[in-house]
Amino acid sequence: MTERKKITTKKLINMKKGGEKIAALTAYDFLMAKFLDEAGVDIILVGDTLGNVVQGNLTTLTVTVDEMIYHAKIVKKAVSKALMVVDMPFMSYQVDLQEAVRNCGRVMKETGCDAVKLEGGERIAEIVQHLVKIGIPVMGHLGLTPQSINIFGTYITRGTDPKEARQIQNDAKILEQAGCFSIVLEKIPSALAKKISASIKIPTIGIGAGINCDGQILVTYDMLGMTEEFHPRFVRHFLNLAGEIKTAFKYYIKEVKDRKFPNKSESY
Ligand code: KIV
Repeated sequence: MTERKKITTKKLINMKKGGEKIAALTAYDFLMAKFLDEAGVDIILVGDTLGNVVQGNLTTLTVTVDEMIYHAKIVKKAVSKALMVVDMPFMSYQVDLQEAVRNCGRVMKETGCDAVKLEGGERIAEIVQHLVKIGIPVMGHLGLTPQSINIFGTYITRGTDPKEARQIQNDAKILEQAGCFSIVLEKIPSALAKKISASIKIPTIGIGAGINCDGQILVTYDMLGMTEEFHPRFVRHFLNLAGEIKTAFKYYIKEVKDRKFPNKSESY
């Protein structure tokens, strides 16, 4: 068997060209990143969803650059083959170009990741262009961008009306021209995602955007069935880990209370 090669941004573009689907998932800690890398996932995203699933917040807005760096440094230790992308948190790249460069530069330099991800279209095009020019690969993110939840006011599907659909399509083109190597499309109609994917050369990575994206991403805790209360249509539970974990905890508690753990062979 040939040894798996490190995934690069160029390789992802070639995968789209060759019709090979891209599998992406999120990680926030060493062990999960190790499992993902060993399983052969193409992209590991240190997502700012850590604000939800690790920190227990309702939105991603309060996550800081320092927190992203803390988790990304841990993930980096476990990643050898996957392309590692780190989310730039809310207000770390929106103030001005200088601040965006400083924060994205810090994330790249301090974590050793391969790329950063920024939410938005036309309004961040100049920043993307500059980051790419100085050597920072950028993944875009369009559709239901969670950092704009206070503008949207709801988590419903974006791009269902023709005006917004056109805007998302234009934004995808603009991000491609600005130099993004890939774009996440979140919670938009499958037909729109299909159109966008066919209109650009860089791969689209869908989450709730249907089968015609060039790749798929899910929050790892969601697909493992750990986030029981969060079950939108686009999340498939590939495992029901919440139930398994709780059963194990209850079993442990019972064994301790019944004086059955540890047994002789588990003692010195
Ligand atoms: O932060 C995140 O985990 C993400 C994915 C859901 C795409 O942006």
